[in-house]
Amino acid sequence: MADAEITQARPEPASAPTADELAAAGLRLEVDGAVATVTLDRPERRNAMTFTTWRTLARVGATLPEQIRVVVLRGEGPSFSAGIDLGMFSGGGEGFSDGADAEATDAFIADLQRGYTWLRDPRFVTVAAVQGHVIGGGFQLALACDIRIAADDARFCMKEPALGLVPDLTGTKPLVEIVGVNRALELCLTARTVGAEEAARLGIAETVVPREGLDAAVGELVAALLAVNPGAAVATKRLLWEASENTLEQQCAAERREQIGRLREMFGGQKQS
Ligand code: ACO
Repeated sequence: MADAEITQARPEPASAPTADELAAAGLRLEVDGAVATVTLDRPERRNAMTFTTWRTLARVGATLPEQIRVVVLRGEGPSFSAGIDLGMFSGGGEGFSDGADAEATDAFIADLQRGYTWLRDPRFVTVAAVQGHVIGGGFQLALACDIRIAADDARFCMKEPALGLVPDLTGTKPLVEIVGVNRALELCLTARTVGAEEAARLGIAETVVPREGLDAAVGELVAALLAVNPGAAVATKRLLWEASENTLEQQCAAERREQIGRLREMFGGQKQS
């Protein structure tokens, strides 16, 4: 994603959610040095997410402390997430938009999508640690992250078309980029469940580990990510996410631009002419 798109996607201004606001959104946030862990925390509802969850996630993303280099997104309990809280569709849940006013509905959905787009911000690497059900908006949330680690009991399902909807929480682009349009179509239009092994084969999960080893595997990955030079990590993430949009020529230019930044940072002012 280009920088400009990321900048536009960031809500302005945003205030950091309080602990009460996080709890009301079904979220928990822990910051430990350079690592922020965001936990979907409604296990009794299989971490089903509300509109408030997504709006609060956007605020979390926009207000993370400067020192954060890795964000881990995880789910409490047996499942990562059962997707949208189905209560949102009934009783006009949380200002549900019925589409009658196209402009207002467009703005409504764009607002919810901000809960996802911040995960591409090059300031940090985002890791989804998923187990159990990873459905609909939950699947899209995992797709919005840079890296996915799945427990061997993870079950992915893009359920939206089966409910008469399209996946609209930023997931169609990464899904197509990962599995190709034909497989994406098959997965979405059958709304079938993909187990962890197949997910790994398709590239939906980078790693699959035994369920009991998920936290340890995430810890190891985070440690490895933190061992890399921070500036190089930011520049490399920016570069890699630009690659699929760019021509070879544009990408070569982007590599040169980023490398000049790195060289200046590492050696600037030291060379005597
Ligand atoms: N919204 C609201 N409540 C939910 C949701 C949801 N998406 N998913 C689960 N729950 C609730 C259940 O109603 C149940 O509540 P109860 O204890 O009051 O009966 C509780 O969470 C536990 O759910 P179970 O079905 O008992 O748990 P189980 O582990 O057997 O099944 C599963 C989990 C497969 C996720 C099942 O609950 C399910 O199919 N949920 C709906 C999934 C769905 O259609 N999501 C929307 C996708 S589209 C989108 O995200 C945009």
